[in-house]
Amino acid sequence: MNELTLNGQTARFAEGETLLDIASRHGVEIPTLCHDPRLDPAGACRTCLVEVEGERLMTPACARTARGGMVITTENARIDRHRQTLMALYMTDHPHERESEVGSPDLLLDMAARFNAPTDWGWMHPIRDVREDRNPYIDFNAETCIACARCVRYCEEVEGVSAIALVGRGSHTTISTVDEKSLLDTTCELCGGCIDVCPTGAMNEKLPLMRGQKPERKLQKVRSTCNFCGVGCQLDLNVDPEGRDGLGQIVKITSPPPGATTNDGNLCVKGRFAYDFVHHKDRLTHPLVRGSDGALHPTTWDDALQRAADGLMGVAERRGADAVGFVSSSRCTMEENFLVQKMARVLFRANHVHQCAAT
Ligand code: SF4
Ligand code: SF4
Ligand code: FES
Repeated sequence: MNELTLNGQTARFAEGETLLDIASRHGVEIPTLCHDPRLDPAGACRTCLVEVEGERLMTPACARTARGGMVITTENARIDRHRQTLMALYMTDHPHERESEVGSPDLLLDMAARFNAPTDWGWMHPIRDVREDRNPYIDFNAETCIACARCVRYCEEVEGVSAIALVGRGSHTTISTVDEKSLLDTTCELCGGCIDVCPTGAMNEKLPLMRGQKPERKLQKVRSTCNFCGVGCQLDLNVDPEGRDGLGQIVKITSPPPGATTNDGNLCVKGRFAYDFVHHKDRLTHPLVRGSDGALHPTTWDDALQRAADGLMGVAERRGADAVGFVSSSRCTMEENFLVQKMARVLFRANHVHQCAAT
């Protein structure tokens, strides 16, 4: 174990840790925008600069590997001045009215306010190319992009897809695809991870924008488990309690932060975007059983389960165990699938049990 000095305190660290890793572990907050614990450090946004004793220039804490004996300062007047100046520069071509936030939170605006950055350093009219993309899920607003490349790095390093890239030079630098194709014509898997990692809300989910729904900050997050497969990814339903005439409406789905749950901040296309079914008018809201008239009638869960149990038991008693079979689903959890096979084998003495993931 090596040691360094962090804001006057001795801090131990393991080989390979960055200054940001050590600070986080010791409860010292350093602001970041382009950092993501799942990605290789890029040192792109310069918000995390700290001082190392004996070095003339400040260094990005997210990208600097620690060495024994370093003396690090994360808060002083010079660092404050740097953060304020940096934010003021960002604001010269960033919409700085809070009303401009329509979907995902713009953390750059939060940071500019927190560091009391001047917003009157002039305004540079947006010069980045604006392009339409017919994909149904992902919206990109070049005006609020700070070219931190977090989305690009996520797409490459976590998804292994490389559908998007930084293109253009200097102030024209923006996010695009090869030959400016629609994401639908690239290798994009529509995982939406680029939306999730974007610190400024430049990447956004299209549907809530098109529907004019409330921005993410005005929604309530409700943690839930994705039910599209048995992996059990955790997701946050972003709910507008006033939606659907006060019944509540899921406006979008986001992933919990990296490191918080087993899916480590990642979701697939279904988990992130396929949520409209929850409020679909054709969805069954009560169990139905077929009556003697041949039609389906609403009933209670107790009654429906009893009817199903009686029917299955009746077949097994009349025809023997080989006459019944059970098919479970990969959408169920491992525990539920275990219970299905246990019910088949112990209760019905039947070995005809299958699950779709087994084929
Ligand atoms: S949706 Fe996923 S695969 Fe497509 S560009 Fe974004 S991160 Fe890459
Ligand atoms: S779209 Fe967002 S994540 Fe991607 S480079 Fe721009 S600001 Fe960074
Ligand atoms: S968070 Fe370190 S440079 Fe962006």
